[in-house]
Formats: sequence, structure tokens, C-alpha cells
Amino acid sequence: MFTTHIRSFVHRRSHITQGQQQALDTLLAKWGVSYQTSLLDLEGTFGRRADTILEIGFGMGETTEQIALSRPQDNFLGVEVFNAGVGSLLKRIEASSVGNVRIIQHDAVEVLRDMIAPDSLAGVHIYFPDPWPKLRHHKRRLVQSPFIQLLASRLKPGGYIHCATDWEHYAMQMLAVLGQEPALENTCEGFAPRPEYRPLTKFESRGLRLGHGVWDVIFKRKVD
Ligand SMILES: C[S@@+](CC[C@H](N)C(=O)[O-])C[C@H]1O[C@@H](n2cnc3c(N)ncnc32)[C@H](O)[C@@H]1O
Repeated sequence: MFTTHIRSFVHRRSHITQGQQQALDTLLAKWGVSYQTSLLDLEGTFGRRADTILEIGFGMGETTEQIALSRPQDNFLGVEVFNAGVGSLLKRIEASSVGNVRIIQHDAVEVLRDMIAPDSLAGVHIYFPDPWPKLRHHKRRLVQSPFIQLLASRLKPGGYIHCATDWEHYAMQMLAVLGQEPALENTCEGFAPRPEYRPLTKFESRGLRLGHGVWDVIFKRKVD
């Protein structure tokens, strides 16, 4: 599975600030984990045994930092491909001394496939994944059945997948795809209320003020 796959991102030549570049140059060695083709030792990586939550596509990392600060008992492994985003989260975790975040700069599909052991994650966060709104680009959307099957296999029984999006069409796709995965069950009837641990982003509050919707979807791996 996933020996070749359509990527859910395109490499962009985006602006990176001096501070973000400096963080990449100096802090990635401290908080980063290199992509490898063998399983990652989570306990060794975080220096402790704790529930580990994988976040896919953390963007600039505001949400990651806030959740990690509010849940110090959990480990957070953030995966992002975008240079400025990785630089931004590195700066944040260094400044706030949050000790429970590690970063992998690589395609999350390959990270899951190659580095994450089956039955090992306590949760997965996928917040506002690229919506790829054009029909011809829908194949690039991250939340699709083969990927969710892979994800579910990496969760511990009882572990959760939490997705959020402000694109109604993608929200419906999330609900359908997660609902079709036999290893998972919905924690709610349909969409979930936003749990307190997921902070409202600036972008999201603005959208909500303008009357746009945001949908949370939270499923759990069945305990058999
Ligand atoms: C629309 S942004 C959302 C960022 C953030 N979660 C938020 O809520 O603001 C989606 C992010 O996912 C990242 N991304 C997309 N596909 C990815 C993949 N396969 N592996 C890692 N990161 C990915 C993109 O680089 C982008 O930064």
C-alpha cells in the first residue's frame, strides 16, 4: 500500500522569514526527527512513555503549540512539509519551552507508512487539510479510504482521529470515508461539537463571524 501515491501537497516556493529560516537552521536538530524507513521509537524520541498524538499538516503551528501546552501529559508529533511552517513551530516551541512536541518535515503518508508502528498512536489530528476544491484535484485530498485504512491501523484500539474543515464538501467526504472504515466508529451522531482542546484559530473565528461553517469529525478505533 502507498508504494506510489498522489501527494496531498505541492511544493511551493513560499516566503520564509529570517526568523523561521534561522529556527530551521538551528532548532531542527533539537526538536526535529529525521524521516527514516524504519519504525520510530516513540519512547526514546520523547524521552518518556506517554500517549502520542500525531498531527498532520500543522501549518504555522499555532494550534499545535496551544494544544501541547494544554495537554502536557501527552506527546505531540507534528508532521509538515512546508519550510516556513516548520520554522514557525520550531520558534514557538523554543520560546514557550513546551517540551512535548517533536517535528518531522516529510510527507505524512510516508511517515505513517514507514515510521509509525501499528497500534501505537493515541490520536491523530488533521485540522483544515488542503481542501483541493476543484473536482479534478479531489484526488489530492488527504482524507480518502486507503489513507484512512492506513491511519486506523496505526491507532491503538480506542485511539481517535479528529478532523476539522471549513469546506462543506470535504466535511461530507470526511464523514463518509471515516464512516466506511470498518475499524472505526463515530463518537457522535454525524458531526462532533468542537472539543475544548481544539482552539479557534484567527482564520476560523473570522470565517465564523462571516457566517461560514466549520465541521469537526471525531471517530475512534473500535476496541474488539
Ligand atoms: C490548509 S493548511 C492547514 C494548516 C493548519 N492545520 C491550520 O489549521 O491552520 C494544510 C497544511 O497541510 C500540509 N500538508 C498537506 N499534505 C501534507 C502531507 N502529506 N504531509 C505533511 N503535511 C501536509 C500543507 O503543507 C499545509 O501546511
